[in-house]
Amino acid sequence: MFESETQVHQDAPDWVACLTYKSLATAAPRASDLDLLVTKARARNRSLDVTGMLLFEEGCFLQTLEGPPKALAALWSSIQRDSRHNQIEVLSEHMAAARLFSDWDLLLDGRTDDLPRGAAPVSPVPPAVAEHLERLVALALNADDMALNAMIAAFADQGWTSDAILTLLIEPAARALGDAWLDDHCSEIDLTIGLSMLQMAGHAVRYIPSPRSIRNSRYRILLATAPGEKHMLGTTLLADQFLTAGWQVDMAFPESEEALTNQMSAQHPDAVDIGLSDAMPRHHAIAQLRSTIEHSRLIASEHPTVVSVGGRLFAEAAATALSVGADHARQGLAGTSIRLAELVQQSRKR
Ligand SMILES: Cc1cc2nc3c(=O)[nH]c(=O)nc-3n(C[C@H](O)[C@H](O)[C@H](O)COP(=O)(O)O)c2cc1C
Repeated sequence: MFESETQVHQDAPDWVACLTYKSLATAAPRASDLDLLVTKARARNRSLDVTGMLLFEEGCFLQTLEGPPKALAALWSSIQRDSRHNQIEVLSEHMAAARLFSDWDLLLDGRTDDLPRGAAPVSPVPPAVAEHLERLVALALNADDMALNAMIAAFADQGWTSDAILTLLIEPAARALGDAWLDDHCSEIDLTIGLSMLQMAGHAVRYIPSPRSIRNSRYRILLATAPGEKHMLGTTLLADQFLTAGWQVDMAFPESEEALTNQMSAQHPDAVDIGLSDAMPRHHAIAQLRSTIEHSRLIASEHPTVVSVGGRLFAEAAATALSVGADHARQGLAGTSIRLAELVQQSRKR
């Protein structure tokens, strides 16, 4: 597991392996059983430098684990052998530049009403992520910014990192809004308002600068929406992340490819991120994006610029990055400033 990815990222030793799976509990665990499982798991995860989350709901487990590839592989073979669950199905397996659960050896999330009464409740026990997501989407569609901000602030108070809030709530909520529009459950105006609500909530997320990110302060990035793209959620939220990491940030919301390439030739950024919608898949935009990237490379020939792309299209199919000629496709917003700093450093060494 993870060996090929380890090869690819051997120049980036801080990358972690991430694994998400679901499984069925073989017997309904009591709260005390789960408590014991998690207490032991936390101790082992801490010793292995593994972090993650475990959800238990309606007889199903959902777990995300992240950590050094070898340690995670060893843990994964223990978990697969565990008779307390079966029908294990891996949902995703990839390498990532940053952890989602850096503060959690294992965050347990579940519903107390799924657990037999009489046993001590597991702590902390907030409701499951899917339920939060549904509520977030409803608040965004109702343009209830007060409730939405309060909800995000409550997660931050519970210890969710900004990366976890973006990856588990804000980005999936944007995609859910896109699906609601595609399924005719909301109007285009509802979608636009909903996305701007998520944007506001996302701005309220606190980024904690790491010593690594402060080292990147000499770099300059142009954060742009793809030419003509009206949805700017990801681009604006990246601005918070890059500013906190000490980058010099310029923004562009160009109407045309020419407007974008003009801005690039005037500013000579070290990196440019071109964002498609986080709500809609935008498959039709691939050819245009390829041409935009080709032209921006010509402009930047004497000052090489790392080109990153993002949006729902890439979150769902990262390999599309190759087809548009970008150096990097972000599968989400989390960790982008760290990854782009690495790519800029590598491009300077060439
Ligand atoms: C759903 C589920 C999730 C688990 N998650 C972890 C975990 O994150 N870390 C951990 O050390 N053990 C976890 N365990 C327990 C392991 O499967 C295993 O019992 C434990 O690591 C001891 O390993 P060993 O039996 O190989 O000594 C989990 C078990 C189940 C059923």
